[in-house]
Amino acid sequence: MNSDREIILEAKNLRKEFGGLVAVEDVSVQIQARTLHSIIGPNGAGKTTLFNLLSGVLKPTRGFVYFKGQDITHLPPHRIAHLGIGRSFQITNIFPNLTVLENIRLASQALGGDNFRLLKASSDFQKYVDKALQVIEWVGLKGREADLARNLAHGEKRKLELGIMLAADPQVLLLDEPTAGMSSEQVPALLEIIHSIMNLGDKTIILVEHRMDMVMSISDRITVMHLGGLLAEGTPQEIASNQTVQTAYLGDLYGDLTESMEGKNG
Ligand SMILES: Nc1ncnc2c1ncn2[C@@H]1O[C@H](COP(=O)(O)OP(=O)(O)OP(=O)(O)O)[C@@H](O)[C@H]1O
Ligand SMILES: [Mg+2]
Repeated sequence: MNSDREIILEAKNLRKEFGGLVAVEDVSVQIQARTLHSIIGPNGAGKTTLFNLLSGVLKPTRGFVYFKGQDITHLPPHRIAHLGIGRSFQITNIFPNLTVLENIRLASQALGGDNFRLLKASSDFQKYVDKALQVIEWVGLKGREADLARNLAHGEKRKLELGIMLAADPQVLLLDEPTAGMSSEQVPALLEIIHSIMNLGDKTIILVEHRMDMVMSISDRITVMHLGGLLAEGTPQEIASNQTVQTAYLGDLYGDLTESMEGKNG
């Protein structure tokens, strides 16, 4: 098989009902390894529910999730995390009274195979410190290692969350609206981090994001959800020029997509 075409994560006919409400309806999507794949759609389209199904936080009413061909549909979330699927949570895992370095070191230890064991050799300890320092550089928190997490600004806390996620060395990162609560000035720094994660060469990012200019400029592929189902899938160019997507909602909701594409290409 051509490794460029490797499917790392796949949803097959996923359906999720909450009582009488169908939040996700017959969603099938294939995520190619080492790509950035965005999921977009209006509020309530089912994007977060899909993330919860992919990460095992919720179990589907019907359908399957495959990670590298393995059926992971019924694995508990911690097992799925160990396999290499990391996700950010709206409620963060940050320990406010620990430093930046300690937060990231603990995250790397937690999934590093030494969990719940005392670190006997100081070389074990150093291994995790080194890893944490590397991650701190990736997420742009160099110089803040000794700062308490609670003293970080909002944008820096989002970087720390990303660092906590990266410390576990996931192959797939599920990012649900990473720019939420950020001012426009803070977005470029996050974009840079996402680029540096992709530049590591072995990561796959699945991104839910409402900022269309960002989605259009960084995605390899985009899946559009609407009312729980799939509306369209394609490259940013294909999505921007897709008449169904335009008329269904994008034109109204996000303004002129064609314009943002011209901005990117021009
Ligand atoms: N735990 C739940 N119990 C009941 N209904 C839920 C639950 N989680 C989500 N829903 C409903 O499912 C639908 C899809 O919600 P979801 O959060 O997946 O949408 P979303 O695309 O992430 O929206 P947003 O862009 O606002 O984050 C919505 O109608 C929502 O109210
Ligand atoms: Mg959501």
